[in-house]
Parts: sequence; C-alpha cells; structure tokens
Amino acid sequence: MLEPAITVHGLRKSYDGVEAVKGISFEVARGEVFGLLGPNGAGKTTTVEILEGYRQRTAGEIAVLGIDPETRDLELRRHVGIVLQSTGFYTRATVRESVEHMAVAYPNPRDPAETIELVGLRGKEDQRVGRLSGGQQRRLDLALALVGDPSVIFLDEPTTGFDPAARRTAWGVVRALKDLGKTVLLTTHYLDEAQSLADRVAIIKDGLIVAQGPPSELSPGRARYRVAYDENGRRVELETDEPTELLHRLTGEALARGERLQNLSVSRPTLEDVYLELTAEAAEQ
Ligand SMILES: Nc1ncnc2c1ncn2[C@@H]1O[C@H](COP(=O)(O)OP(=O)(O)OP(=O)(O)O)[C@@H](O)[C@H]1O
Ligand SMILES: [Mg+2]
Repeated sequence: MLEPAITVHGLRKSYDGVEAVKGISFEVARGEVFGLLGPNGAGKTTTVEILEGYRQRTAGEIAVLGIDPETRDLELRRHVGIVLQSTGFYTRATVRESVEHMAVAYPNPRDPAETIELVGLRGKEDQRVGRLSGGQQRRLDLALALVGDPSVIFLDEPTTGFDPAARRTAWGVVRALKDLGKTVLLTTHYLDEAQSLADRVAIIKDGLIVAQGPPSELSPGRARYRVAYDENGRRVELETDEPTELLHRLTGEALARGERLQNLSVSRPTLEDVYLELTAEAAEQ
C-alpha cells in the first residue's frame, strides 16, 4: 500500500511557552480530502503551516509525501500547493501576471489562462490584484495554489468571504481535484462545506483532536435523531436513539385518535450538531 500523503504524529507547538497544539495525530491518505475543523484559535492554521514548512514544530513526527516539510525540500515544494489563511502578494501585478509568475516555479504547471477560468476569474486577467474584491482575491489565492498542478493541496479557509455561488464553484474545484487523485487538507468554519467535501474530518479544540472520522459517522454524545411535528399549533420536538420505535408509537397513537401528525419530520444529527456539542465548552469560556 502507498504511504499516506500526510502523516502527523504527536505534533506539538508552543508559542512563547504557551502550547497551542498539544500533541495531535492524524493521517491523510493519497487522494483523500481531509477537513480540519475547530473554533478560532484551536490550532488549525498552526498545524497546516507546520505541514507547509512555514512554521517550526516544537515536537512530533510529520511527513508530507514521505518528506519532513521542515527541510524545505525543493522536490516537495514542487508537489505542494497552498492557500494561506492570509496572503500578501504583489498588489500591483495583474491577475494574469500573478498566476504566470507562480506557474514558472513548477515543473509541469497547468495553463495559467485555464486556471484563471477554473476559479471564475475570466475577464479579470488584466485587473491589478489590489483592485480585486475580497472574494476575488481569495479566488486568485486558489488559482495560485492550483496552477502548479500539485499533488497535495493545503487550503486554509479557502472559501471565507465567498458569495454562495462562488462557494459552490470552489466546491466543484475541490471535487475535481479529488477526481484527479489529488490530496486536499482544508480548514473551514463552514460545516456544510466540510460535510459536503471531506472524506474525513478532525475536530480540534484547544490544540487537541476531540473527534475524527467521516462526517456522517462522527457519533455525537447527546445529539440524537430528532422527530418533530405540529400539535395544536405548537411544534413538538423529541430526541431519540430509536426513531423507529418512537415513530411507531407516535403514529399509532395519532391514528387511533383518527388524527394525522402534521409536518412530521425526522432528522439525523448534522455535523454542525456534533461540532457544537464537542466544542461547546470552548465557546462558553
Ligand atoms: N505567531 C504566533 N505567535 C504567538 N501565538 C500564536 C501565533 N500564531 C498563533 N498563535 C496562537 O496559537 C493559537 C492557535 O492559533 P491558530 O492560528 O493555529 O488557530 P486557528 O485554529 O487557525 O484559528 P482561526 O479559526 O481563528 O483561524 C491561538 O491561541 C493563537 O493566538
Ligand atoms: Mg486559522
């Protein structure tokens, strides 16, 4: 079996004696889309930037494509594409110049014009970067990460500031990358984004992973199936581990009364329910 694209084992990072990442471990298989979720300050960017080789770790073993990114290996950098949480590229350059400039750093780049089109910036090629809107700059960030045709892509909040249509476009780009067999590590605060894109997610809280797995399989402690219906103009909401039994009882009782349950719905806990439950304590502090 191929080694994983990314391995992280016992990663720790302290800033001035304060531990921001407290020993986290995960692996990302080749071709997998992996999401890092967690509240502000949880340690996501710290983790991602250590994997990108931009920050030094305090302890732990990490590898990207089998190489320790701290070595800043040139071969590794040719296979990695990056969207940083905050960027500062030349604001006087145009969109086309920026993308072409990035493309020459890679051995087998994508066509710059095609890449610009891919992220939805066609027609903006000659615009100076400083004149782009926030969401357009973020699209350019994505183009810069993709133009080298990397096999591993790090996306730190890639769709923050995107309008809903742009977000869907970006989701399509990530899915296309997955179809091409690329590995994607992304962070996001949009749980629908994680649910829709990620094969697996890890939820980080205070520098520790509190849950890890496919979004649909993360098991919540309390968040259970929700059964809801209207009764005398009021919404009744019930939680249960056994929706079949509960529905059987409720519908049986209603039928016996000659009634119908109005606006009946059954919903599974969403990733958002699980996330909010697992990170609740952090939010209260
Ligand atoms: N360069 C730095 N120097 C000192 N402390 C830092 C530095 N970078 C991050 N931190 C601290 O480390 C912790 C984790 O920050 P990090 O940026 O990794 O969080 P994050 O999960 O990416 O948050 P967000 O969702 O807000 O982007 C925070 O408490 C932050 O204040
Ligand atoms: Mg961050």
